[in-house]
Order: sequence, then C-alpha cells, then structure tokens
Amino acid sequence: MTIKIMFVCLGNICRSPTAEGVFRGLAAQSELDVFIDSSGTSGWHNGDLPDTRAMAEANARGYDLSAQRSSQLKPQDFHEFDLILCMDNSNITKTEAIRPKGGNAKVKLFLDYAPNQSLREVPDPYYEHNFEAVFDLIEDASRGLIAELS
Ligand code: 4NP
Repeated sequence: MTIKIMFVCLGNICRSPTAEGVFRGLAAQSELDVFIDSSGTSGWHNGDLPDTRAMAEANARGYDLSAQRSSQLKPQDFHEFDLILCMDNSNITKTEAIRPKGGNAKVKLFLDYAPNQSLREVPDPYYEHNFEAVFDLIEDASRGLIAELS
C-alpha cells in the first residue's frame, strides 16, 4: 500500500520543498512505496519555484527540486495523506487549524525522525541563509523516516 506523506513549512519554497526532494531522492534508493508532496501554510509563493539557494544546495548534493512549485496546504490534504510532517511548531498550529471533520492525517514534527539532533524544529533558512545546516537536518530526518517505514 502506498504511504502518502506531505511535508509542510510556511512558504513552501525553502524547507518543505527541500524535504520533498531529499526524501524522494533517498527513498528512491529503497523499496518503499511512497507518494510525496509538500506545501506551505501560507499561499504567499503559490506557483513559485523553490528558492534559488535551496535549488543550488540540492544540486550540489545530487537532488533535483526543479519540477516542484509552491502550493498551499488545504483541508482536503487531511483526507488524502497519511502523514503531514511539519518543519516547526508554528506550522503545526496553522496546520491543525484547518483540519476538517473526518480528516485523519497524523501531524508531527519532521525532526521527530531525527532524535539524535538537539534541534526539534528545522530553522527557517529564508532569512538565516543556513541552507547547508538545514539540508543536513533534512537528510538526517529523511533517513530516520525511511528506516521507520522500512
Ligand atoms: P519556508 O521559508 O517556510 O522554509 O519556505 C520561507 C519562505 C518565504 C517566507 C518565509 C519563510 N516569506 O516570508 O516569504
């Protein structure tokens, strides 16, 4: 059975598209049957490509984010996805605020799958410019999630 996973951040141009691309790349090397998407709690960047800094770091590590476009999380996603993985606690609050009746998706912090990291939230690189550190966290959590699902 296909496991459906949605990655969520604020703008869907930095952290969650990175999680989508990195997880897809790493999961492709496994036997996992997964459907992956990402979205933002805001619709500020709807239709936009991922941030150029995220795409550059992705390319340097062998991932390709260029087919991804920003979109906003919607209530229907709670029916269609098994797991909604948020980058920070503010994303969780905004995500739970639009959960529809009967929408059963489990909502968790992505770094729950990186228990050895001291951080529990993926810091927003949009202003902080720390894309390398963000990619390290996201690769670690992706490997943890793949191990859990395998
Ligand atoms: P993201 O980063 O949530 O990781 O995609 C941000 C992207 C855009 C903005 C904030 C955070 N913004 O204010 O437009």
